[in-house]
Amino acid sequence: MEVPSEPASFERQSESKYCTLFMQPDTANTAGPLPSTETIVVMPEQGIIALVSRIGEAQQRLWASRLSALLPGERVVLFDDLCESERGAAEIAVVANPDPAVLAQLPNLVWVHSLWAGVERMVAELPGFRPPVVRLIDPELARTMAEAVLAWTLYLFRDMPAYAQQQRERRWHQLEYRRPEQVTVGILGLGALGSAAALRLIDAGFNVIGWSRSPRTVPGADCRHGAGALGQVLAASQFLVILTPLTSETRGLMNAARLAELPEGAKLINFARGPIVDTANLIEALDSGHLAHAVLDVFDEEPLPVDSVLWNHPGVTVLPHIAAPTDPETAAQIVAGNIRCWRRTGELPPAVDLGRGY
Ligand SMILES: NC(=O)c1ccc[n+]([C@@H]2O[C@H](COP(=O)([O-])OP(=O)(O)OC[C@H]3O[C@@H](n4cnc5c(N)ncnc54)[C@H](OP(=O)(O)O)[C@@H]3O)[C@@H](O)[C@H]2O)c1
Repeated sequence: MEVPSEPASFERQSESKYCTLFMQPDTANTAGPLPSTETIVVMPEQGIIALVSRIGEAQQRLWASRLSALLPGERVVLFDDLCESERGAAEIAVVANPDPAVLAQLPNLVWVHSLWAGVERMVAELPGFRPPVVRLIDPELARTMAEAVLAWTLYLFRDMPAYAQQQRERRWHQLEYRRPEQVTVGILGLGALGSAAALRLIDAGFNVIGWSRSPRTVPGADCRHGAGALGQVLAASQFLVILTPLTSETRGLMNAARLAELPEGAKLINFARGPIVDTANLIEALDSGHLAHAVLDVFDEEPLPVDSVLWNHPGVTVLPHIAAPTDPETAAQIVAGNIRCWRRTGELPPAVDLGRGY
């Protein structure tokens, strides 16, 4: 990801929260009139961090207290609890599904930190937003996603949907067993989550072919990139795991033509965002028998409407967006660490490229 250019006021605003203390040298009694520049200690004043979110108030208060405990020099305050002057003083907003109209009431934001890894909705709702948006990159989240990818790949690999159906029918029938090394799993997206998932699958013995926008290397995986390589990846993927962000390029990516490029009997796992897969085309591919099963954690509309045909489709496993939930403990530590680092050095982690969409 690209490092954003800083707003013109970046330097001035970040410095405004610091005061400089001059420490007396050890030899205080004999020291000269001026303190040594080597003994300057920079101490932050108390900064205001606005918490902006459409999650429930109780959860927001939990995040605020967690972050406040990790950031003794800061006040992390829910937007609704900020007075007018405090809204003007806030340089950082910590957000989770923020209302754009609320963010607009923080005129001096220097940057925004998302508590979530996926920022698709923010990107869509904030066209032309100026302050850099930093999203959560948490190794624990990547570990959780890799665990989910392995779990549901094994669920499909060991034919659990078929055995569950056989049990409902009181049917005793042993399906043929294949070893993991006889199976290739394709992963669309080799970012923080996709690359962790690839490593976990390789460790479990699967062949992995991965796809990204730009060249990526994952040890042990066959890595391809660019629109031209997608067909090769799909043709090789008996199992397909989707972990690309939802952007203008990936919306509807897995349409009828792309689904048809998967091998006969392929199985699909979508852990990214619902609209990357065309739902009507997916149902057709399942009904025709071209696809054997789909595990869906994400949907065009969430929660999945009660009248959706996906609920009862025998070829679909529905999950309620649980593949990789944010871990409040590790996420708070990472967000607090990024804020401390910025206060100390003025440096931000790589920001989301709002133009590119991720
Ligand atoms: N279900 C859940 O519980 C859950 C939880 C968290 C996140 N997610 C989803 O997971 C997604 C991925 O997260 P992440 O942290 O791994 O994102 P990331 O680090 O930004 O990685 C995204 C990957 O997708 C690739 N990509 C993007 N657009 C592409 C295109 N047009 N063609 C080919 N490859 C493309 C990127 O290519 P480059 O490497 O070339 O940039 C990168 O490899 C999130 O956006 C979110 O939707 C789901």
